[in-house]
Amino acid sequence: MNPSTLIAPPALVRRAEQQDTQAIQALDSAHFIHPFTDHAGLASRGARVITHADNIYVWDSEGAKILDAMSGLWCVNAGYGRKELADAAYQQMMTLPFYNSFFNTTNVPAVQLATKLASLAPTVGGRSFQHVFFSSSGSESNDTNVRMVRRYWDLLGQPQRKVIISRNNAYHGSTMAGASLGGMSGMHAQGDLPIPNITHIEQPHHWENGLPGESQADFGRRAAGWLEAKILEVGAHKVAAFIAEPVQGAGGVIIPPETYWPEIQRIVDQYGILLISDEVICAFGRLGHWFAYEKFGYRPDLVTFAKGVTSGYIPLGGVMVGDRVAKVLIEKGGEFNHGYTYSGHPVACAVALANLELMEREGLVDRVKNDTGPYLAQRFAELKDHPLVGDAETCGFVAGLVLVKNKTTRQMFDADLGVGMICRGHCFKNGLIMRAVGDRMIIAPPLVMTRAQIDEMMVLIRRCLDATLDDLRAAGQLA
Ligand SMILES: Cc1ncc(COP(=O)(O)O)c(C=O)c1O
Repeated sequence: MNPSTLIAPPALVRRAEQQDTQAIQALDSAHFIHPFTDHAGLASRGARVITHADNIYVWDSEGAKILDAMSGLWCVNAGYGRKELADAAYQQMMTLPFYNSFFNTTNVPAVQLATKLASLAPTVGGRSFQHVFFSSSGSESNDTNVRMVRRYWDLLGQPQRKVIISRNNAYHGSTMAGASLGGMSGMHAQGDLPIPNITHIEQPHHWENGLPGESQADFGRRAAGWLEAKILEVGAHKVAAFIAEPVQGAGGVIIPPETYWPEIQRIVDQYGILLISDEVICAFGRLGHWFAYEKFGYRPDLVTFAKGVTSGYIPLGGVMVGDRVAKVLIEKGGEFNHGYTYSGHPVACAVALANLELMEREGLVDRVKNDTGPYLAQRFAELKDHPLVGDAETCGFVAGLVLVKNKTTRQMFDADLGVGMICRGHCFKNGLIMRAVGDRMIIAPPLVMTRAQIDEMMVLIRRCLDATLDDLRAAGQLA
């Protein structure tokens, strides 16, 4: 990376460091309801106050420098401190900070971004993506998908096609539709979810769902078969769509076997149902491609995106609308009664354009595909020799490892021990952000991470695994 493209952390933000961390924590706990947080617990511990960031590092109000192996929340693909993105926002705010795209109006950055995205989305099997619908998040985009899919089948005279099939342990957002599409039991347990006409099949997770001795290839085909079984159970004439992440992210970086996606494609084709690829995490270089469906060779009708499109610098999401759906919506549709105030927000679109330009200029997608991605895979595989690591796998710039009590028998630790959380605690103490999903430890580093920085991260990961191992031995949980 060219250091001149980095900017020093702004003085204004640095001021937070000089304030009393405890005072910020008290105000935080008094007034700020955080996402996915137990507030009583947070109040007793106090939130960590992140004050500034640069490249792949963030700093907290106590001055600790932390290597952010999660890219914020799977989104800061271009790394922190990119002046081009701040400049693009500033210039657009001074030119046209906002105007809506309802009522026959448009704006230049939104048009340019839609055109750019259409050119980046590969045509697979003769299906291209010439149209984009904009939102401000992944959740909103998946709500849009539900509306679009239903409208599509209504317009085709098949209004009974309402059911969307998803997968257990999937994450598709936190709105009513997003959380319903997702397969997180903890989310479903709060607020009578899923909403009607959404149903789930098991995830393609060989480690958890494979039979003893079953090959990855056999398991992949068998796991795809669960979709066919569900379609037949629901009644094929009632099924509208199947939605899935190319690689499940928040569920713990679940990488499907190579045989999975081709078989899924065969099934959706056979029953004529729409395929939605939720690429909120996986697009924009995360798997070494602009869009992840290209990596796995399947042909979605709708593609959800958000996060990496702006490298998280400003909220923006959307849906790439494939020809099959766009043709019906546009030619048969009349007015589609759906949209958001911020659909095609000019500042968000200007930042996205600058971000995509930066990624192209620095060749970040190719770098992940051909250089740093394979290097991360090689270094991550070395972790398999660690006594706690049952499995370690990567796909581009996402990676997951599972912490086990017994590698040979695949015996897991008692869930009450919270081994993943113990490990995550050691990560924080050692200046590393890694996420724990149960006893799976996962990463999704900024795509600008260099080979030397991968080495630096691996030293930290090993240190944290060793510290976790020491704790477990001291607690008598391991020989
Ligand atoms: C695959 C996937 N879909 C949707 C979402 C929801 O996106 P947002 O939090 O922007 O609403 C996420 C968020 O992590 C995601 O990983």
